[in-house]
Amino acid sequence: MEETLQALKQQAAELIKGADALPKLQEARVKYLGKKGELTALLKGLGKLAAEERPRMGALVNTVRQELEAMIEDVQSKLEAEVLAAKLSTEKIDITLPGRAARQGHVHPLTAVNEMIEAFFMKMGYTVAEGPEIESDHFNFECLNLPADHPARDMQDSFYITENILLRTHTSPVQARTLQSQEPNSPVRMIAPGKVYRWDYDATHSPVFHQVEGLVVDKGITFSDLKGTLELFLRHIFGEETKVRFRTSFFPFTEPSAEVDISCCMCHGEGCRVCSHTGWLEILGCGMVHPEVLRINGYDPNEVQGFAFGMGVERIAMLLYGIGDLRLFYEDDVRFLKQF
Ligand code: FA5
Ligand code: MG
Repeated sequence: MEETLQALKQQAAELIKGADALPKLQEARVKYLGKKGELTALLKGLGKLAAEERPRMGALVNTVRQELEAMIEDVQSKLEAEVLAAKLSTEKIDITLPGRAARQGHVHPLTAVNEMIEAFFMKMGYTVAEGPEIESDHFNFECLNLPADHPARDMQDSFYITENILLRTHTSPVQARTLQSQEPNSPVRMIAPGKVYRWDYDATHSPVFHQVEGLVVDKGITFSDLKGTLELFLRHIFGEETKVRFRTSFFPFTEPSAEVDISCCMCHGEGCRVCSHTGWLEILGCGMVHPEVLRINGYDPNEVQGFAFGMGVERIAMLLYGIGDLRLFYEDDVRFLKQF
């Protein structure tokens, strides 16, 4: 039996050392050390030996087994190293190739314009307020000196939810909400950006659009404060040479009132579809806060005065970027949005 063992060890060693690929090594392992392998068979045969022979032969078989296992492990790591080396020498990664740039989005042009407006007024010391888009008739109209049946309500044909609740038609109700939240007659300097809703639809009118309301109340505020503020703002946004026009107008919540136009971006004043052939595009309404509005909202018009304005963000964006149809802002066409 000892001879058989030695012979077996020799054959196995040759086969193992001669293995030039991992599958062959695996074959050798199975042939000798597997469940039905030759060495395993020898081990099983120990029972047939005489009792005094058994321990010695058992130990011998185990030693051979360990030697073969060690040998297999050796050859295996050598072969694995070869496989890896072969892989490394054939597969090439060009680390100098520029990476695939991550696509970066950007804010929507209306968001960008909103942020520009906010940044300007925040630097001027204004706070930023917000109000609900679903608003009561009370705040949207009555607190702004537009009682029921006032004909000026027709200027803003509106989306009603119930008889007294509607989608706000302008950001002006935030004026009333702000005044009512303050200690009476305390100074206010705020802007209120947000969405508003009207029964409108054409190249310069969208049923949903954005306004930024502004309200300044303090002792001795005059129309020249309003004019100076808005001119500074418009020159900041559109450049020093911008042509700005104040046109007398009417709002029930301001007196006197004005609308502000700037020269049309599309035709540069010649007259076109966008400016209704006037050469001007209206971007905001403004005026001195009507004494009645101060009174309704708890302020005393004999103590303090104020000005207010409400600008159309889409109109400003149209003029700034030279866009002839504001509906483009809402179509989410990437070819359009990519240009900003
Ligand atoms: C108002 O909404 C007043 N609340 C503004 C105001 C505030 C006046 C404070 C005085 C004091 P008006 O309806 O004119 O005013 O709208 C203001 C601006 O919103 C317009 O100048 C225009 O730029 C813009 N605008 C109006 N309707 C639309 C519309 N359908 N789509 C896009 N922009 C619009
Ligand atoms: Mg108007």
